[in-house]
Amino acid sequence: MSKKIAIHETAFVTSAFRAADKNLSKDMYAHLWPGDITKKHAEDYAGNVSKHEPFAHCLRNRYFFETIQDLVAIHEIEYLINFGCGFSMYPFVLSKNLKHIEVDKSDVIAFKKDRISNWMTQEILPYREIQYIAADFNNENFDELRTKITTILKGSSSFILIEGVLFFLGKDDTLRLFNLFNSIQQPNDYIGSVSYRPQLEQTMVFQKLISFVEGNLDKNAQFNYQTIPDEYYSSLENYSLTDHQHTLNLARKYAPDTTIEPSEVLNEHMYILKKK
Ligand SMILES: C[S@@+](CC[C@H](N)C(=O)[O-])C[C@H]1O[C@@H](n2cnc3c(N)ncnc32)[C@H](O)[C@@H]1O
Repeated sequence: MSKKIAIHETAFVTSAFRAADKNLSKDMYAHLWPGDITKKHAEDYAGNVSKHEPFAHCLRNRYFFETIQDLVAIHEIEYLINFGCGFSMYPFVLSKNLKHIEVDKSDVIAFKKDRISNWMTQEILPYREIQYIAADFNNENFDELRTKITTILKGSSSFILIEGVLFFLGKDDTLRLFNLFNSIQQPNDYIGSVSYRPQLEQTMVFQKLISFVEGNLDKNAQFNYQTIPDEYYSSLENYSLTDHQHTLNLARKYAPDTTIEPSEVLNEHMYILKKK
């Protein structure tokens, strides 16, 4: 049996999916990350869960790329703070005027920082200002993380992105994270969040995801296949929901000629929140 996939290694798989169609994802650097083992994991995952997963990940990246780019163009945000950034490459495809804070587990951050620095030196990547912070969202106390971020931001406007992460976390960690977001953001700042809805749990494709995760992912104690209802986002006291999309909508918008079987899509929901 092949070795189990560690949670942080899921970020390589996501990169492999985004590299599947660069024109659609707009991530022209995703191909730099996956090696042969990752490509095999990505094939196994798509083969056992849903063949539409590479397409779905390209759509998700395209949506956030366009949303963030539009906000930068109208000077609404100065920093992108990517929580559970994995190996996403927004810094290099978005305007060079945007500054970046990338947060993830220490092994992802150490590996990413080293690789990115080398690729910038070799001019494989353009230069960008990126601050890296190692953090574990399962930790009970976010005081140190809050201080690190607010020290960098110094009151600057921000877009917080959390994509492909909440499924791996529990409800308490999620609530504490959204409290953290509220405490570091100013009015008119943004959050982009991605999650599955509870309704998806009844579907065959979600059951396939659970089976795959059970058999192949090296889960930690806090892992609980989290899904989140729309009401969580629409009832946040300090944020207004300004946009809500899902994979099937985005497919119609960005790839109307691609044929998909909706019942085989792990339909993810994307929410844009604006601080009141
Ligand atoms: C599926 S990857 C998604 C990466 C990236 N957001 C993307 O869309 O390409 C999940 C990421 O969440 C991070 N992650 C999961 N649990 C975490 C935790 N408890 N603390 C910090 N990061 C975590 C993983 O290390 C990984 O980089």
